[in-house]
Amino acid sequence: MKIGVIGTGYVGLVTAAGLAELGHQVQGVDKDTEKIEKVSRGIVPIYEPGLDGLLKSNMEKGRLNFSSDLSGTIREADVVFVCVGTPPQEDGSADMCQIEEVSRQIAENLNRYKLVVEKSTVPVKTSYWIKRTMSLYRKSDVEFDIASNPEFLREGSAVLDFLNPDRIIIGVETERARDILLGIYEKFKDRIVVTNIDTAELIKHASNSFLALKISYINLISNICDRTEANVEQVAAGMGLDPRIGSRFLKAGVGYGGSCFPKDIRALVKIGEDLGVDMSLLKEADKINADRVRIFLDKVKKALWILKDKNIAVLGLAFKPETDDIREAPSIRVIRELLREGARLRLYDPQAMGNMKQLYPEEPGRLIYSSSPYQAADGANALLVLTEWAELAGLDLKKLKATMANPIIVDGRNVFEPEAARKLGFEYYSIGRK
Ligand code: UDX
Repeated sequence: MKIGVIGTGYVGLVTAAGLAELGHQVQGVDKDTEKIEKVSRGIVPIYEPGLDGLLKSNMEKGRLNFSSDLSGTIREADVVFVCVGTPPQEDGSADMCQIEEVSRQIAENLNRYKLVVEKSTVPVKTSYWIKRTMSLYRKSDVEFDIASNPEFLREGSAVLDFLNPDRIIIGVETERARDILLGIYEKFKDRIVVTNIDTAELIKHASNSFLALKISYINLISNICDRTEANVEQVAAGMGLDPRIGSRFLKAGVGYGGSCFPKDIRALVKIGEDLGVDMSLLKEADKINADRVRIFLDKVKKALWILKDKNIAVLGLAFKPETDDIREAPSIRVIRELLREGARLRLYDPQAMGNMKQLYPEEPGRLIYSSSPYQAADGANALLVLTEWAELAGLDLKKLKATMANPIIVDGRNVFEPEAARKLGFEYYSIGRK
């Protein structure tokens, strides 16, 4: 069985490498020739722990290669995984142009039966459109099947997630398609859930939106904690002990970001509304998340009063630890607001500074990047934490205090212990705890 993986973005690269690791013959394809050229030489364009090793070892074993010849890859493949982007549009709905384009190209190269598997996050009913597009564009009556196999991997632990999945969701409408996918995921046969295609497509959006909802819920509770003596971490721990609730994704902070939650929750709102369903619950969750940066900045202002000409160290730019990804990261809006108020910023992140420089290039006197957290804190009137990198949680507070102009920390991810920070003489603000 030969597998073609279309799209070498985040999901595509991990899927291609992961499927090869499962022992399959995989060809990854992308129209971005420069990217393909780099990946073929083992250069991974993103920071993802374990991914370069997985790619290299499978390329060396001859199970994985990359190409920019889309037609060739499709024609050679028995199964085609579609991993192209479905970016958000202004109204929240997913832009399906790339999916349509790929569907046409698969149809035009349908030289024998193929199974087309949607891996990209797509609205429920997408398979109907892929099928229709393929039927319209195929040149002969060659048979094909569509399946949905949503991807649940998390950035920063994507390789681990692919190789140790909680579940593999397979949405199919024929036995042939089901058997092929059961074969591909044979290794995980105890974790495979087979559904119809609409259900599989919806499981992905429903899961991500639920997790986003859970985070917004604890963030809402943290606002009550901020105004009382309650401690949000203890509230979350107490709630989490109930197995019906569970302890994960109950960490209050400056809000969720990334390429999935913000986009998926808005997409599901649009999907529901288009079907006549009142989606106000999820709209509120999105609104609560949008408010996190304002609430965080209120804390900064409470500590510093006037931000103009204050030196502020901003530690943690990635939307979460162990990634260089800054898509929808709270840091982007925090930086924008601080600059608007005239603050002078020193930014630091272990991996994401390169990406942030594209958005905010250095402007001496206004915004500079530091080579270490201590350098960023040197002479600062306050230090802000926006990502819970282990490196940041492990900072030597004594050393920090010695270099800062004013010992003020506003911790948007609760990485430090309030008591320890205060004992050292810091004025310390965090989320939902005193
Ligand atoms: C998410 C899903 O977890 C994954 O299953 C899906 O395939 C893609 O979307 P990802 O975006 O990589 O993965 O990161 P995740 O670890 O889920 O975190 C998303 C955001 O939520 C981050 O900004 C993180 O900081 C925030 N978060 C997470 C919280 O604020 N609190 C939490 O308790 C958990």
